[in-house]
Amino acid sequence: MADYAALAARIAALTEGETDAVALMATLACELHHADDRFDWTGFYRVVAPGMLKVGPYQGGHGCLVIPFARGVCGACARTGEAQIVPDVDAFPGHIACSSSTRSEIVLPVHDAAGRLIAVLDIDSDRPGAFDAADATALAAILAATFSRPGVS
Ligand code: SME
Repeated sequence: MADYAALAARIAALTEGETDAVALMATLACELHHADDRFDWTGFYRVVAPGMLKVGPYQGGHGCLVIPFARGVCGACARTGEAQIVPDVDAFPGHIACSSSTRSEIVLPVHDAAGRLIAVLDIDSDRPGAFDAADATALAAILAATFSRPGVS
């Protein structure tokens, strides 16, 4: 498991004073992806229109470009505003398979300071059952610290 405390401290230091959402997403995608062997695809899908996500900064293989809120694990997260932990992607109705090696994933909502949903963070793993509630809690804290700062857009 990643050393989330060290990761949170490093991300806070690297992004201090930054409010550009894409710059923040790019930095998080890189730092998170390289911090944990479980993470095979790490990136953001941004809310670009009502009910519509479009790919943002990511690390890993090709990610599909557009995901409607109605589809996939990312869509379920965007629709409900709730973190999604999927231990077996084959058992998730409507899962979007961008890589056949993906076995499990976690998707978290990203809110700005006003509480608006601006994106989701999607982390995919080639291992089954890679993620649990402790990952969700630690990742949500990093997202809140990064994107809830005043002026992020
Ligand atoms: N995990 C996603 C899609 C995979 S990506 O394009 C990397 C989903 O089903 O929402």
